[in-house]
Amino acid sequence: MSKIILTGDRPTGKLHIGHYVGSIKRRVELQNSGEYDETFIMIADAQALTDNADTPEKVRQNIVEVALDYLSCGLDPKISTLFIQSQIPELCELSFYYMNLVTVSRLQRNPTVKSEIQMRNFEASIPVGFFTYPISQAADITAFKATTVPVGEDQLPMLEQTKEIVRRFNMIYDEVLVEPDVLLSENKACLRLPGTDGKAKMSKSLNNCIYLSDTEDDVKKKIMNMFTDPNHIRVDDPGQVEGNPVFIYLDAFAKPEHFAEYFPDYQNLSEVKEHYSRGGLGDVKIKRFLNNVLQEELAPIRARRKEYEKDIPAVYEILRKGSEKAEAVAAQTLSEVKRAMRINYFEDMDYINEQSKKFTNK
Ligand code: TRP
Repeated sequence: MSKIILTGDRPTGKLHIGHYVGSIKRRVELQNSGEYDETFIMIADAQALTDNADTPEKVRQNIVEVALDYLSCGLDPKISTLFIQSQIPELCELSFYYMNLVTVSRLQRNPTVKSEIQMRNFEASIPVGFFTYPISQAADITAFKATTVPVGEDQLPMLEQTKEIVRRFNMIYDEVLVEPDVLLSENKACLRLPGTDGKAKMSKSLNNCIYLSDTEDDVKKKIMNMFTDPNHIRVDDPGQVEGNPVFIYLDAFAKPEHFAEYFPDYQNLSEVKEHYSRGGLGDVKIKRFLNNVLQEELAPIRARRKEYEKDIPAVYEILRKGSEKAEAVAAQTLSEVKRAMRINYFEDMDYINEQSKKFTNK
């Protein structure tokens, strides 16, 4: 069986380093591993509109931002197919049929939807489209017969929902759809990077994100202002490592070779953590180290972005070509789905002849 990757992001803002360590870095590694037959990366604008119906311009503007973020991280349009969800009408058709396989109570139990409803204060006024987006996400994944979906941890319930739909479809109709596997980061710190303010999640509205497109200066300022252990007042005070965002970022980004280069007093992160816990190691020193580590990771991303920014029409052309290719794949799956569901009337000459006999022999 082919090995196929599908994943994507909602274009509601520029991507930040939480997206990067949570999923995008991994996608680039998978793309470059040569182990996959196809890699599809989708800008989920239709899903973004499910809770941004009245701000379409925001979604529109972020298409190119997200595309630039993808390309600058090293997703290569020669290997990966980058496309825009709304340009693939087959996804809507698949969603419409999958809706018959899912109950309202099952959607209400979806933990991601539940917490998002709370976060947005939707309660009784949830748009139907938003409520059912796990179904459309199942369409996204199955349309490409994806075997592997690299995403952040918050997407696990979506994958569960998709697997249920696949099983139900294949049981009722025919073995057409493929059950996908989720791929999470193995590094725990990467699963959910906190905001620079120490809040659980990076979010644009909280103004606590480091963006992939931030300048060197922006990044440095944000790091130097980061929240650490509020009780670590004097350098000699013992500091708390656990839950301290500076250390979580180091867990996510620091590599063994960084110590010799930027922090030669220490061999590895455990030594730094131990000194901090004991007392005698100041926040500023650690923040400077983190800044060096992060700048090293972001510099090539920034450089690639600059190149792509010089030719924005070419970026749209990449998305247009990608969308064309993606549509052809989705159309093939949709035709198999319709055949399995017995709604392929005009392709089925045997059926037409059978019907004909029934009526002429009356
Ligand atoms: N729900 C994802 C997010 O919020 C975006 C998304 C849409 C997606 N369809 C997908 C991710 C299919 C993986 C597979 O970021």
